[in-house]
Amino acid sequence: MRLQGLKCLVTGGASGIGAATVKRFAAEGAEVCILDRDLPTAQALAAELGQDHFAVELDVRHEPAVEQAAAEVYARWGYIDVLVNNAGSELNKTYNETTVEEWDKVLDTDLKGPWLLCKHFVPGMVGRGSGSVINISSLNGLVGFPLSTAYGSAKGGLVVFTRDMAIELATSGVRINCVCPGVIETPMMERWTDLMPDKEEAKAMLRGVMPIGRMGTAEEVASAVLFFASADSSLCQGAVLSVDGGFTAQ
Ligand SMILES: NC(=O)c1ccc[n+]([C@@H]2O[C@H](COP(=O)([O-])OP(=O)(O)OC[C@H]3O[C@@H](n4cnc5c(N)ncnc54)[C@H](O)[C@@H]3O)[C@@H](O)[C@H]2O)c1
Repeated sequence: MRLQGLKCLVTGGASGIGAATVKRFAAEGAEVCILDRDLPTAQALAAELGQDHFAVELDVRHEPAVEQAAAEVYARWGYIDVLVNNAGSELNKTYNETTVEEWDKVLDTDLKGPWLLCKHFVPGMVGRGSGSVINISSLNGLVGFPLSTAYGSAKGGLVVFTRDMAIELATSGVRINCVCPGVIETPMMERWTDLMPDKEEAKAMLRGVMPIGRMGTAEEVASAVLFFASADSSLCQGAVLSVDGGFTAQ
């Protein structure tokens, strides 16, 4: 019970890595609020986990919606201990085929969203002198890939945002750290392989990309998120942890 009684927010908690994190946090004694644009799925997961947990509809790209969500969360809890910025949107296109709308959607979801959540939730943590923020970046935020300019720019920006925030928050009692998953079996990965001419061939290629020879699971990423959420990571501030089966070790 490493998160006993802690009040935790997980954006994009209805699916994949976010849902695995929500379940792991609940199993570790946390009370969890799932913030997701997919409210029915988020509500179903919260109900499955029990009455300590709830869901709020949120599109992380829009500040008025974040303000409204913050009002709902504070009305119920009064404060939060942990914020996981996990909601993400992917794009696999060359730089010159990417439209302005697609660029804005990815950057707004994967970079502006975490900033907006921090803007409206971190001051409360600072006021209490404690809290932990975990940003879910990506392998794509650390190394270059084809078809990844929008997504990689957003995820790379999130790594630097984490470090900048870590310095601003250094003496506040609030920690902020970043997890960079490799290729993880989630609905996002399924959507990506759906776009390929041969889905099974694409999956085999992705397994081959990972030095360990397999994709990661959402639960394995959730374990890393749990580390940063818990007091076990009390000395970590602005850390960037690769959870990628050895990819960035190459
Ligand atoms: N799956 C991977 O291989 C992989 C690798 C590296 C990083 N990541 C990152 O991990 C995070 C989770 O990815 P996943 O694979 O679990 O994806 P997923 O598609 O399974 O889940 C994403 C969740 O985010 C929600 N969401 C999307 N846009 C939103 C928005 N604007 N506002 C609120 N909620 C929104 C979706 O409704 C969904 O519940 C993302 O940030 C992703 O970029 C994933």
